[in-house]
Amino acid sequence: MERILIADDDAGIRQLLRDFLEDEGYDVMEAETSAEVLSAVSSDGNAPALVLMDVRMPDKSGIDVLRDLSETYGNQLPFIIMTAYGSSSIAIDAMQLGAYDYITKPFDLDDVLLTIRRYFEHQTLKQQVQGLRTQFRDTDPNDYIIGNSAPMQEVYKTIGRVARSDATVLITGETGTGKELVATVLHRNSSYAGGPLVKVNCAALPETLLESELFGHEKGAFTGALNQRKGRFEMAHKGTIFLDEIGEMSLSTQKKLLRVLQEREFERVGGTVSVKVDTRVIAATNKNLAQEVRENRFREDLYYRLNVITIYLPPLRERLDDIPMLVEHFLHKHRYTAGSGPAKITPGAMRMLQEYDWPGNVRELENLIERAVVLAQGTVITEDHITFSSADQRNFVDIAARVRRGATITEVQQEVEKLMLIEALKQVEGDRVAAASLLGLDIGEFQQKLIDYGIPGEVTSMAPY
Ligand SMILES: Nc1ncnc2c1ncn2[C@@H]1O[C@H](COP(=O)(O)OP(=O)(O)OP(=O)(O)O)[C@@H](O)[C@H]1O
Ligand SMILES: [Mg+2]
Repeated sequence: MERILIADDDAGIRQLLRDFLEDEGYDVMEAETSAEVLSAVSSDGNAPALVLMDVRMPDKSGIDVLRDLSETYGNQLPFIIMTAYGSSSIAIDAMQLGAYDYITKPFDLDDVLLTIRRYFEHQTLKQQVQGLRTQFRDTDPNDYIIGNSAPMQEVYKTIGRVARSDATVLITGETGTGKELVATVLHRNSSYAGGPLVKVNCAALPETLLESELFGHEKGAFTGALNQRKGRFEMAHKGTIFLDEIGEMSLSTQKKLLRVLQEREFERVGGTVSVKVDTRVIAATNKNLAQEVRENRFREDLYYRLNVITIYLPPLRERLDDIPMLVEHFLHKHRYTAGSGPAKITPGAMRMLQEYDWPGNVRELENLIERAVVLAQGTVITEDHITFSSADQRNFVDIAARVRRGATITEVQQEVEKLMLIEALKQVEGDRVAAASLLGLDIGEFQQKLIDYGIPGEVTSMAPY
């Protein structure tokens, strides 16, 4: 049973919270003064797992309590602070000192419960990530796959099943879903792990260069081929070759690849000697290869060769449950400075991340976190630090977040107005007269608003403003 300390000088509030939280199965303690909080937190056997504390305490303010504790215990304090409505600067101070979250009074008991549950969930995730980290201590932090959602469990099972076989594997999924990462993990766990992992991006080179890149060439094979050169397949002998973006490979190169897969041998470009290789082949694509086959852009026989084992990485929007763990992972991976600890993130900001649809998938999330860490200067990432790069999401105003942070009606109205102006301009391709009439404004009013909001002349896309 999780133990929660309720610290408030108001006995009525303590009673209310006690009754409610005990019904929810928590073990509740109370404190009336800051001194009692400090002694409870530092007591050995009996310390609470979480403290729900009013900022206004009779002896010492809640902020001072946090300050004392963050000096001794570091800045990840198991505290949820209760503040009066509208005192957002206190709330921000509390977060910066390392409190987990804050709730404003008067509060809704269900919100209190939600915040508490999220805290404990968050703790569990943290432990899991730490567990993973120890488990993988010897590997590069870039080389492990995070995520516990059902679709990812399937991915792990398949990796486990195929890693030690020498079967060809095709990895599919939208951009940024982790295909290259999975290929790396597969290689590291395979019987080819002692050999190299050689990566080739089939989209990066024109047809003739790709062939010589893959298979090598003999001296004089073409103008400029001054020496014999080994190809990637030869370099990957006893290792793995990763053919990225295989959907972009030309039909003639596909034919040569098919032969390698069937016979495990090939000739260098311009050569007659056949070269034998023992190489594990992993291919990846974000295209629908079956569709490419139907449209005669991809050889059917090669497709069946590659498609023996397929690992499909679902888009991030279909596994939003993985987001907290991924965020935690990226906060550890992207520190503000080499010496700083991982930044933290408010529940409100986390919620924004879980409400987004992630067209750029995990890569987009990783980039966003990296950016947010910088904006928050490595401390606490709040809603203000979250900027989605895909254009349309700028259309989004999170009302709950605004109210929580104490934004006024006028501020939110202005924010919405600005978004509407930009969107209207976008929809009519920058035609101001048309945009004004779309919004029911006369052109004079419309122009004035553009000036007021500093919206530039032409808005064809929702570039950062
Ligand atoms: N499940 C995951 N856990 C941890 N990091 C991940 C995960 N999935 C992706 N990443 C990270 O996201 C970034 C993008 O992943 P990756 O390059 O593997 O995507 P991809 O599917 O190959 O994308 P593309 O199709 O655009 O090449 C990398 O930095 C990778 O480490
Ligand atoms: Mg890739």
